Amino acid sequence: MFGGALVTNSAASGRGDGLDGFIPEGVASLESILCTEELYRRPPRPPDYETENRALVALAQALADSPRTILQSLADTILDVFRADSAGVSLLTKEDGGRRFFWPAIAGKWKPYIGGGTPRNFGPCGDVLDRNCPLLMRHVERRYPYFQPVAPPVEECLLVPFYVQGKAVGTIWAVAHDQRRKFDAEDQRLMSSLGTFASSAYQILASLESLSDEIVERKRAQDDLGRNHDLLETRVTERTAELKEANEDLRALSAQIQQAQDEERRRLGRELHDSAGQLLAAIKMNLAEVLAKPLSTEVSRPISDISNLVDQATREIRTVSYLLHPPLLEMAGLASALRFYIDGFAERSKIAVEVDIPQRFDRLNDAIEIALFRVAQECLTNIHRHSGSGTASIRIAQVDGVMEMQVRDAGKGIPAEKQVAQNASGGVGFRGMRERISQLGGSLDIQSGPNGTVVTTRIPVPKATIAANEDTAVA
Ligand SMILES: Nc1ncnc2c1ncn2[C@@H]1O[C@H](COP(=O)(O)OP(=O)(O)O)[C@@H](O)[C@H]1O
Ligand SMILES: [Mg+2]
Repeated sequence: MFGGALVTNSAASGRGDGLDGFIPEGVASLESILCTEELYRRPPRPPDYETENRALVALAQALADSPRTILQSLADTILDVFRADSAGVSLLTKEDGGRRFFWPAIAGKWKPYIGGGTPRNFGPCGDVLDRNCPLLMRHVERRYPYFQPVAPPVEECLLVPFYVQGKAVGTIWAVAHDQRRKFDAEDQRLMSSLGTFASSAYQILASLESLSDEIVERKRAQDDLGRNHDLLETRVTERTAELKEANEDLRALSAQIQQAQDEERRRLGRELHDSAGQLLAAIKMNLAEVLAKPLSTEVSRPISDISNLVDQATREIRTVSYLLHPPLLEMAGLASALRFYIDGFAERSKIAVEVDIPQRFDRLNDAIEIALFRVAQECLTNIHRHSGSGTASIRIAQVDGVMEMQVRDAGKGIPAEKQVAQNASGGVGFRGMRERISQLGGSLDIQSGPNGTVVTTRIPVPKATIAANEDTAVA
């Protein structure tokens, strides 16, 4: 509250330039309050080095112990050493380019004015900087009206400038509020010595300040980094969720395609069986009727050849329609359909297939039955086409709610370079199998070596399926 009254800034005064170059009318001249030469008229004293040393040692210690309060320690020391009534430090402000002095530290009677200050261009400290030397002043309020309310008033005031790299940055000062204390030349010498110390203290404080600015800056940068990191993490999480969703969409689509394909195969298989198959059956009956009649060998031979060709076509159509969709799969279930298919396969391929499928076999849901059937079909086809094995075996077992199917051969094994590809994406056959099985939450494992190949399929059987089957079994 005291300081605010002293510091006149442009905002408060309402003038654009504050007190810069403004000297109120009717105030005393600077010369009339200056009395510096009196310092040398007063009785001389020998230099008091002991006091000086003690003060400097104490200040150096204070600087080491608590640099942030060093200016107050300096003010206290000046008060003490000079037996003054008030003492303080004035620093040029930095933020407005040095238009004011402010008082960071005061000791003695004027202590309540800490934080106040004076204008650079109209005040005692400004005068000291302008003259660039120590000044002794009396009754400053006669020239500077803003000192009038300041109590107690100045009887005599000794001010010394101090510099950093040749530039004046502030003053230190001692005030006597009554006639008892008169400053002399030795006081001025001692004050100049403390001015040098003030300069060092000022520089240390400045570097401490810039250090703490830097720390704040670093901290801010670190916070920014942290925030960016959080942002990035959120984005990654979002993207991951999006990807997962897209992946699920893809899976659903793929399952849909698989199902549509199964249905289309079934439709084709049935159509082939019902239309072409029926037509061939009708032709066969007509031919039988013709062949029952007495015919010349010229006629009967080609007709019985035709009859044989019709038999062959019938078989082939049956095989194709059956491969497209085993009719037994729907009606009789996986076990019967597989046995039937394997019999046909063994006959066509001349590969001896050992079958180990439980006699009583619970019906599984359609998707699982079709999947296992297709995998068995693909594996047996692979054995026939690629393995060179004369034997094969297929084993199915249900263990702890998991259907396990193993198809094995004693062939030459999957070539190493293809095995690598298998594990990555696989050939068309393996890829399709994997896709089918993974849609049902199952897994496909391929072990292959020079002694043969084993493909193991595992599919968890949904509880509902087992329960329904148990119900059916009971009924
Ligand atoms: N039982 C097997 N024995 C030896 N090689 C096999 C066997 N099964 C698959 N392979 C090899 O793995 C490859 C990939 O099989 P697959 O994905 O079914 O594709 P495709 O049968 O259309 O070639 C085959 O080309 C073959 O070289
Ligand atoms: Mg294949």
